[in-house]
Amino acid sequence: MTGQNYAVAGDEGSQPPQMVRVWDGPTRLFHWLLVVSVAVAMLTGFLAPEWWMGTHLFAGYAIVLLLAFRLIWGVFGSEYARLINLARSTRYLGAYVRGLALLRPPHYVGHNPVGALMIFAFFGVFLGLVATGLMVQAGEEKQGPLAGIVGYAVGHAGKEVHEFLAFAALAMIAIHIAGVLVESWLQNVNLTRGMIDGRMPLPRGFRVPTPRAARPLAAGAVMLLITSLSSATLYGLSRMPPLGIPIMPENATYRSECGACHWSFHPSLLPKTSWEQLLAELDEHFGEDASLPADKKDEIARYLSAYSAESWDTEAANRFRLVSASDPMQITKTSYWVAKHRQIDTKIFQSAAVKSSSNCTACHKDADTGRFDDQKIEMPKVSRP
Ligand code: HEC
Ligand code: HEC
Repeated sequence: MTGQNYAVAGDEGSQPPQMVRVWDGPTRLFHWLLVVSVAVAMLTGFLAPEWWMGTHLFAGYAIVLLLAFRLIWGVFGSEYARLINLARSTRYLGAYVRGLALLRPPHYVGHNPVGALMIFAFFGVFLGLVATGLMVQAGEEKQGPLAGIVGYAVGHAGKEVHEFLAFAALAMIAIHIAGVLVESWLQNVNLTRGMIDGRMPLPRGFRVPTPRAARPLAAGAVMLLITSLSSATLYGLSRMPPLGIPIMPENATYRSECGACHWSFHPSLLPKTSWEQLLAELDEHFGEDASLPADKKDEIARYLSAYSAESWDTEAANRFRLVSASDPMQITKTSYWVAKHRQIDTKIFQSAAVKSSSNCTACHKDADTGRFDDQKIEMPKVSRP
């Protein structure tokens, strides 16, 4: 490859530019579908992950598929879609930056060197986001294909990286858009339209190399092979039972005795010491006398100790293990519970449908499993006065 896909600015002259077909259909479609998927992922992720987790995950899967397609198309696609050409164009980085500094960036067929670098950076960041996203989903939510191999601690660490990368992606998108606008302005062309109709205006004297054609059949075959292999692997992995969710038998005594006045709390919501303390003080149980005969109390004590927070690796168990120092028997006094429910209007907690903040099942439809999935939150309809 010589410098043929690179022209020095200055020969624009007064002649109208020639329009060169640069971006093939699949590349353009990829670009805009990626824009939509990333926008959906960003909106749902930044604004309200608890409410939109299903959509967020869907966008994430769409992004992986699109990236897989783009990498394959980067090998079998037409000239300017090829990754090798993107890599080559970075050779002209110095010349490009010098031109840019003089406010006369040189023209390129295809991506300019900075644009090409940006694309590789986007690939890295998006793949990182998808990988850490799957880790969070598995470790914290016990969902998705990796739930059988990624524990809470790893998922939680993955979340930090996921959030960092999300901000990095946001910054990169801003830089990318600014770059397109600046270059369009300096070269007096509309680069965005090029991503729609595939054509790019280039100076008249510019010698356009004969582009290589795409090989859609090869691309389709490889795409099919890779997606079926990876779906089979992911399906196999997703059959593994999630880590840290023991099979817990029902205990009728616990259900009926401790479920008499409120929901029989899932044993994973408090650590062993808290359950022990609570059972030792049943005669003064939050202003009620909840005392029990010794045999029932022992049975409940054994049950709660066996399935207390220490035995689970769910997000709830990991968080509620850290009880409040002053109220160690209350889930609703832990800093995590307070933080997660701070934004909910107290009127909702006092409403007839909920009655009390400890009535977890009013809003968490999966409370009996101890999972507290984001997708299973349903706020009761409360009529406002
Ligand atoms: C006589 C009624 C009654 C019985 C029986 C009873 N409780 Fe309670 N419990 C209450 C009341 C009232 C509260 C405090 C109000 C609230 O948070 O809903 C409470 C609160 C709790 C809390 C704290 C919830 C929070 O705010 O985080 C836990 C945990 C709890 N009970 C566990 C148990 C267990 C375990 C048993 C069975 C051994 C039991 N309760 C039996 C009435 C009862
Ligand atoms: C009035 C409805 C309501 C009640 C009652 C309620 N929650 Fe929640 N809970 C929510 C909402 C809404 C969220 C999501 C908050 C947010 O935007 O982060 C949430 C979030 C959570 C989360 C975090 C989920 C995640 O993955 O981010 C946990 C764990 C949780 N609640 C546990 C409890 C427990 C335990 C109880 C009972 C002691 C309880 N909640 C009672 C509405 C409720």
